[in-house]
Amino acid sequence: MNKEILKLTAETMMAKPKGLLAMDESSPTCAKRFAALNIPETEENRRRYRELIVTTPNLADYISGAILFDETFHQKMSTGQLFRDYLKSINILPGIKVDAGAKDFSNHPNEKITEGLDGLRERLANYESLGAKFCKWRGVITIGDQIPSESCIISNCNALARYASLCQENNLVPIVEPEVLINGNHSIEVCDKITRATLKCLFEQLTAINIYYPGVILKPSMVISGDKNEKRADYQTVAEMTIKCLKDNCPDDLGGIAFLSGGQSNDEATNHLNIMNADNKIPWRVTFSYARAIQQSALNKWYGEDSNQSAAQDILAERARLCSASSTGNL
Ligand code: 13P
Repeated sequence: MNKEILKLTAETMMAKPKGLLAMDESSPTCAKRFAALNIPETEENRRRYRELIVTTPNLADYISGAILFDETFHQKMSTGQLFRDYLKSINILPGIKVDAGAKDFSNHPNEKITEGLDGLRERLANYESLGAKFCKWRGVITIGDQIPSESCIISNCNALARYASLCQENNLVPIVEPEVLINGNHSIEVCDKITRATLKCLFEQLTAINIYYPGVILKPSMVISGDKNEKRADYQTVAEMTIKCLKDNCPDDLGGIAFLSGGQSNDEATNHLNIMNADNKIPWRVTFSYARAIQQSALNKWYGEDSNQSAAQDILAERARLCSASSTGNL
């Protein structure tokens, strides 16, 4: 582990006024998003769509790093250049999602455990040799009747810690993503309680495995009401409770925090982040690592048609610009 490399990469990822672009949807997830718009789910269409994203004019003004799916990491653009080399050429760090997905957790109905640790050391060494600078692993915590179980939280956080340690061994900055899902009718107070329990466990596991905190990025969900809750908390409450929850649970020397959007609307995702950044006593950089809140409106416009490409890129650029502005409290 080279701490200087890890710290420098994390600082580059967290540089103001930028954030991260998550474009690492697995093929099944991408298929779902395409199917909703009747875009044929082919490898070539995924490639075309990702080329549209990365060639968006001025993207690097707002984005410091892009998280890729394995397929994209090895794919070429229509010019023949590899995506990962193109990103580097425009000053966007290439990153890679390395988990193998959230699978049913044995003997725990409605809960998930993320797989992918077997062979991970070798896969990471290969990605690093091909130019990846950071990685992502997502654990999923579901709120529901009698869940999450303690064992689901512990197992997912332990996997996140083992992944993070292997990343650092290979000089790759780990993004650790414990997503508490927004789905459900739970209150913001319940989300707060579960997020606190998850983060407490996560940092216990990371500390126990001797992680180097300045070389880690946390990618949390916000403390927010369930999407089916009838009295959802307002922007200010979400921002305040999220920051309080993070301050109470995260070490001050953490490399940075970059939220997922998790099904929030575009306006929610940017307004929440903007209000958080009005608080100037936060010990870390707090920015975004959004997929849907940057991409979805552009995908809706693209519809798989070349003739819509430029209009879709304008929409993507505008979403990236607004996310960037909110990452410094200047929305
Ligand atoms: P969303 O911003 O769409 O939640 O995606 C972020 C992500 O990377 C999920 O793993």
